[in-house]
Amino acid sequence: MVDKENYLNDSYTVWKLLEEHFQKIKKVHLRQLFTENPRRAEQLSVEDSGIYFDYSKNRVTSETMELLFKLAKQADLTHHIEAMFRGERVNTTEDRAALHIALRTPESSPIWLDGEDVVIKVHQELVKMARFARQVGQGQWLGFTGKPIRNVINIGIGGSDLGPEMAYEALRYYSIRNIRFAFISNVDATDFKETVEGLDPAETMFIISSKTFTTIETITNAYTARTWLLQHLRDEDAISRHFVAVSTNSAKVKEFGITPENMFVFWDWVGGRYSLCSAIGLSVMIAIGPENFYNLLAGFHEVDEHFLKTPLEKNIPVIMALLSIWYNNFFKAQSVAILPYEQYLKLFPAYLQQLTMESNGKDVDREGNRVSYQTGPICWGQVGTKGQHSFYQLIHQGTKLIPCDFIAFLEPLNKIVDHHELLLSNVFAQAEALAFGKTAEKLRAEGIQEKLIPFQTMEGNHPSTMILLNKLIPANLGKLIALYEHSVFTQGVIWRINPFDQWGVELGKVLASQIARELKNPDMPELGHDSSTNRLIQKYWKIIE
Ligand code: F6P
Repeated sequence: MVDKENYLNDSYTVWKLLEEHFQKIKKVHLRQLFTENPRRAEQLSVEDSGIYFDYSKNRVTSETMELLFKLAKQADLTHHIEAMFRGERVNTTEDRAALHIALRTPESSPIWLDGEDVVIKVHQELVKMARFARQVGQGQWLGFTGKPIRNVINIGIGGSDLGPEMAYEALRYYSIRNIRFAFISNVDATDFKETVEGLDPAETMFIISSKTFTTIETITNAYTARTWLLQHLRDEDAISRHFVAVSTNSAKVKEFGITPENMFVFWDWVGGRYSLCSAIGLSVMIAIGPENFYNLLAGFHEVDEHFLKTPLEKNIPVIMALLSIWYNNFFKAQSVAILPYEQYLKLFPAYLQQLTMESNGKDVDREGNRVSYQTGPICWGQVGTKGQHSFYQLIHQGTKLIPCDFIAFLEPLNKIVDHHELLLSNVFAQAEALAFGKTAEKLRAEGIQEKLIPFQTMEGNHPSTMILLNKLIPANLGKLIALYEHSVFTQGVIWRINPFDQWGVELGKVLASQIARELKNPDMPELGHDSSTNRLIQKYWKIIE
C-alpha cells in the first residue's frame, strides 16, 4: 500500500500544500472569484492551435494552478512526455512503447524504434490504405459478382470499433453518401442480424479490425459474416473480394482466409484505444476520403506538438489533466461529464469512456503497489441539448459535484435558420447557470413566492470547462481527441500508473470462455463456480433441455 506519506516521494509536500489550499478554497464561490477579478476569463484561458480553452469557470485560483503545475513538475511530467515521444517502453507491464503519436507524424520526421524509422512504415501503410479507400469509394473495387461495393461493415470491438464508429459519425458531413457504413461489435447476434438485414452480400465489404485477431466477439462475428456471405455467393474465392483485415497478427489473419494483399497492418506499439490513426481508421478513410483523413492526422499532430513543446502553464492537455486531478483527488468528485454541443459528436462521450477508463482505471502504481488515492474518474456524457432535458437537473441541483467539459463550435456545418444560435446560446447558458446559479435574493426580487424559494434557488459553483473551436473540420476532430489522449497520459503520470495496459479485462474473458463451454454441456457432472454462478448456468441448461 502506498500511503500518502510516500506518495510521489518529494512531491508529497506539494500534495500536502494542495490539501491545505483545498481546505481554504473549497467553499469559495465562483461568483466571488469572478467579482474579485474582472480579468479572470482572460487569465484562466488559453488560445492555441485553433482551440479556445476557457477554464475560468473552474473552482481554482492562481494559487491552485501554481500548486498543480508544481505537482506536475515534481512528477517529472516533461521527462515522461519526452520519453513517450522518443519511443521508450513506457508501457512497462507489456514492455512496449506507446507511440500513437508516430501515426500522425509527418514523413520527414523520423522516430526510431529498435533501429527502425517507424514513421516510414506508417506512411507506407497510409499509402496502401489510400489506394484501397479510393478504389472502394469510387466504385472501382468490384465484388465477386462484378457489382461495386455499396456497404462497408467494420467488425471490431473496443478500440477497433469505438474510434472508427465515433470518427465516422463525427465526420459524416464529409462522407460519401453512395456507400452505407456500419459497425458491428457486440457478440449478441442481433447486432449482426439487424446490421446486415436487407443488404446484398454481393455489394458488401467487411473490414475485420482486431489488433490481436483473437478477440472472441470479433472473431465470432467475422466467421458469421463469412458464413452469411458464402451462403449467398457459394464460392470461397469470394472472400478475397469481400473481406479485408486490419491487424498486427498476420498468422491469425491468414488462418481466417484473408490474403496478405487484403491485410492492413499496424504495430504492437499502438494501443487499441489509441489506434484510430492507424489502419484501424480504414473505414473512416473510405468514408471521408484520404485527403480528409490526412487532415484529421494533421490536427492530431498539431496538438501532439503543442503537448510536447508548450510550457506546462499554457499546455491545454496538461491543464485539463490537472483540473481532473483537482476534482478527483481533492474535491473527491466521482465522475466527469463530457457534453459536446454538436450532434455529429454524439459518440464522443462513449469513445472517451474507453480512452479514459480503460487507461486510468487502475489500482496499482507503476511498481505494482496498491495505491491509496483515487485514480481515473467515471466518464460519461451526452450531446447537448438532449442531456439538458434528462440529467442536467442533477448536475445543477443534485448533491454530487460533477465537473463538466463543454465542447462547442462557433460555426455550424448545417446552417438552417437560427438553429446554431440556439445551440450555442444553450451551451453558454448552461456553463453560466452552473457556475453562478440563482440566489434566493434574486428570486425574491423577481417576486417568487416565499414557499418556492428553496426549490428554485440554484446554489451554482458547479465547475465547467469550455472547449471552443471554429468548426467541426477533420483537423479539429483530431485536435480534440489528442487533447484527451494527452490529458489521460498526464493524469497517469501524476497518479504513477500505467495508462497503456488493461489487465482488468482479462479475467472476465477467461471466465466467459470457460462458461461458454459449460453452457453447451448440460451433462457436466459438476460446476466449479460459486453457488450463484452455478445456478445461473443451470437455469440456462433447463431451457435447452
Ligand atoms: O477490452 C480489451 C481490449 O483489449 C481493448 O483494449 C481493445 O481495444 C479491444 O479489447 C479489442 O482488441 P482487439 O483489437 O485485439 O480485437
